[in-house]
Amino acid sequence: MTTDTTGTVARDGESRPGGPADSAFIRACRRRPVPHTPVWFMRQAGRSLPEYREIRASVPMLESCRRPELVTEITLQPVRRHGVDAAILFSDIVVPVAAAGIDLDIVPGTGPVVAEPIRTAADVERIRRITRDDVSYVDEAVRQLVVELGDTPLIGFAGAPFTLASYLVEGGPSRTHAKTKALMYGDPELWHALCARLADVTLAFLRVQIEAGVSAVQLFDSWAGALSEADYRRFVLPHSTTVLSGLSDAGVPRIHFGVGTAELLGAMGEAGADVVGVDWRTPLDVATGRIGADKAVQGNLDPCVLLAPWPVVEAEVRRILEQGRAAPGHVFNLGHGVMPETDPEVLTRVVALVHELSSRRADQG
Ligand code: CP3
Repeated sequence: MTTDTTGTVARDGESRPGGPADSAFIRACRRRPVPHTPVWFMRQAGRSLPEYREIRASVPMLESCRRPELVTEITLQPVRRHGVDAAILFSDIVVPVAAAGIDLDIVPGTGPVVAEPIRTAADVERIRRITRDDVSYVDEAVRQLVVELGDTPLIGFAGAPFTLASYLVEGGPSRTHAKTKALMYGDPELWHALCARLADVTLAFLRVQIEAGVSAVQLFDSWAGALSEADYRRFVLPHSTTVLSGLSDAGVPRIHFGVGTAELLGAMGEAGADVVGVDWRTPLDVATGRIGADKAVQGNLDPCVLLAPWPVVEAEVRRILEQGRAAPGHVFNLGHGVMPETDPEVLTRVVALVHELSSRRADQG
């Protein structure tokens, strides 16, 4: 039994056959044999789906993240439609920061915008530590979802300290992360205080999701690729380690992902990940060489390829499955999120193709 009446999920080692902990997705994360290569898509719940756009037409983004019934419905949409091997909680990386007291909004077409950017030690103190009560809507949504999803695993997630700090220091999305880097290089003490506080919030947020029953977590450090490996190790790794290694006893696989991180893949694995997410720039066999044979990989179809004719998509899926065989575990995904203009039928076909090609391979031994 994987889910009991209290919504508690059996941890690794005590999984029943057929439950989420025995799913292809969790097995691949754990580098165990799989019936087929599991597949899900970052941003699978979102604007590529007409049924999502319909719900969101009348509800602002942050409000939709705070209504458990909407979170549950939106999270389930891509599972129903595409037959993906995992659901990812519908939320956003800034949700816990808003719960921690920071005034921000998610502006359509722009992203997170912070009313008063964080620039001083007093500003850091405005980021309160959070408890379950601050994000009770997430706790409630996860508990509902675990029941609805049955054997399909639910992935919880959070933003990593660097990527969150970037939004908070810049005040919004940034191409260069110039203000963030100015603070990091110019006032390392303040930088570390900010990231330590964000690591606290993130760890607490992920613990709430794990307690409520998610089967895996993904830590998004989407913008870490803006740094050299040396700077990543000095300014970021300790804080991402606080989060990921802080969950080493939680019993769920931990995925760590960033974009443009070819030079950082080894270090990101060292932060305490079981699975390292790889963008489309690094072939999975090369990535595995950098990450090491003790971790699985996730990725890495270029989301733009989904806009090309089907034969191109098919060839790329085949190449990625082939290169993924070099890794001790492979979760098929995109190299970054689904773009809003993607035809959802192409996503459904990719899921079917990944399953078909990888199960045939399993038959052949
Ligand atoms: O993957 C999923 O299906 C789960 C949902 C999810 C969202 N945001 C929903 C969302 C996840 C995992 C995120 C994480 C997130 N949010 C990241 C890390 C992943 C990444 O893309 O690198 C980042 C950097 C953010 C910050 C953020 N929030 C951005 C850059 C944007 C896009 C702005 C825009 O409108 O183009 C958002 C808004 C957001 N988060 C949307 C969704 C579905 C779009 C809001 C809408 O529907 O209007």
